[in-house]
Amino acid sequence: MTETRIDTATDRSSAGPTAARELFTEERSAEVVAASLADTPDPRLRELLTALTRHLHEFVKEVQLTESEWATAIDFLTRTGQMCNEVRQEFILLSDVLGISMLVETINHRAAGGTESTVLGPFHMVESPERDLGADIALDGKGQHCLVTGQVTDQHGNPLPGATIDVWQANEDGFYDVQQPELQPERNLRGLFTADDNGRFWFRSIVPRYYPIPTDGPVGSLLEATARHPFRPAHLHFIVTAPGHRPVTTHLFVDDSPYIDSDAVFGVKESLVRDFPEVDDPERAAELGFPNPYRTVHFDVALLPLSAPEAQHDGEIALEERP
Ligand SMILES: [Fe+2]
Repeated sequence: MTETRIDTATDRSSAGPTAARELFTEERSAEVVAASLADTPDPRLRELLTALTRHLHEFVKEVQLTESEWATAIDFLTRTGQMCNEVRQEFILLSDVLGISMLVETINHRAAGGTESTVLGPFHMVESPERDLGADIALDGKGQHCLVTGQVTDQHGNPLPGATIDVWQANEDGFYDVQQPELQPERNLRGLFTADDNGRFWFRSIVPRYYPIPTDGPVGSLLEATARHPFRPAHLHFIVTAPGHRPVTTHLFVDDSPYIDSDAVFGVKESLVRDFPEVDDPERAAELGFPNPYRTVHFDVALLPLSAPEAQHDGEIALEERP
């Protein structure tokens, strides 16, 4: 039997350009598959696929995966894909609850001195509408009114005039506009702002509520099977960009929110948690068009400079970071 296999391999080798390949065995399965990837022209793709193969094979061997478990996994991934549409991204959710999204974010934004990043999340599904500084993004006016202020600077505190601040958040019931198209106005609680000459930005909104990530799909089943809750603490999402600087995708967390220490997607970083103090100032409230008292929050954002290779591809990076 062994001889026949060797003969076959030799014949294949002499018949065409494909080199003879070691036959598949349990012991050397990863090496055999990795060898089939050796001619991948793109070196990075070759590295990624080779390492992925090695880890997947190690995993299957470690847990001695059964055929039934393999079929369950295939079915789970199939349903995860089928759950995706233009307003639902189940694969991002899966990546989030497994901590992969946070790990990728953290690895890619290690440099100290700038505002820390966190997950993009699945609800940046639509373009935020451009709004003037001071605009109220709570289009239906529902919720605890809140004035959001901040300044975008470089890592040394120098203002970055004209920086863009893309914001989106859930409403007082913990839902994004895209989840409630019949209940919320289109583009509710979303805004794209341009900082003033001092890098400052301000807008009016409401204090968001904590919310569960969607649990009606495969990821919800996964959380249930692992006895995990699906909640994320209350937060506002930000993507802040400025020419010549690394964009930052981050959150501003409400410090008194439930689940601040058990975020279902591991997104909380200490430096991103802020107090949202109540202000009792009837005159200022009237100026803002808010009932008195109201809440406030201040969020300064420091961007790091682009590295030299990044600077060469500034435009491309901006596109990639802003899907
Ligand atoms: Fe969110």
